[in-house]
Amino acid sequence: MIDIKWDSKFEVGHPRIDAEHRAFVDLIRAVSVEADRNCPKEKAMRLLLEVRKYAEFHFVSEENIMLDVGYPHYEEHREEHEWLLRRLEHECNLYYTDSAPLQELAHFMFDWFAMHTTVADKKLVDSIAAHNATPAP
Ligand SMILES: [Fe+2]
Repeated sequence: MIDIKWDSKFEVGHPRIDAEHRAFVDLIRAVSVEADRNCPKEKAMRLLLEVRKYAEFHFVSEENIMLDVGYPHYEEHREEHEWLLRRLEHECNLYYTDSAPLQELAHFMFDWFAMHTTVADKKLVDSIAAHNATPAP
């Protein structure tokens, strides 16, 4: 089984985004730990709500950065965020109705995080770096 924890490969080089990503990974890890402990469903649902609220906050935070720099791939990036929020709601319902195990949900979130961070978020930060390097007219 994959160890859900922070890894330097997730580093995108933007201090604020990296800090928020670390907190997000900590939350996903907490879900995985609770799954191993077979925690009460009520506790897991509270934690999952925290994960979803944090994801929502973090996405708005990234989207505001994109708008501030006039990021050309804003729409497609935002759509990836929206997709995850919809999917998370669905996955949480599956867990709540005993249709999917909690550990599966933790791994789904971590897989999505790893893919999104190393591709879409990295592309965003590279674009910010290029934007900052462009001299003002
Ligand atoms: Fe993102």
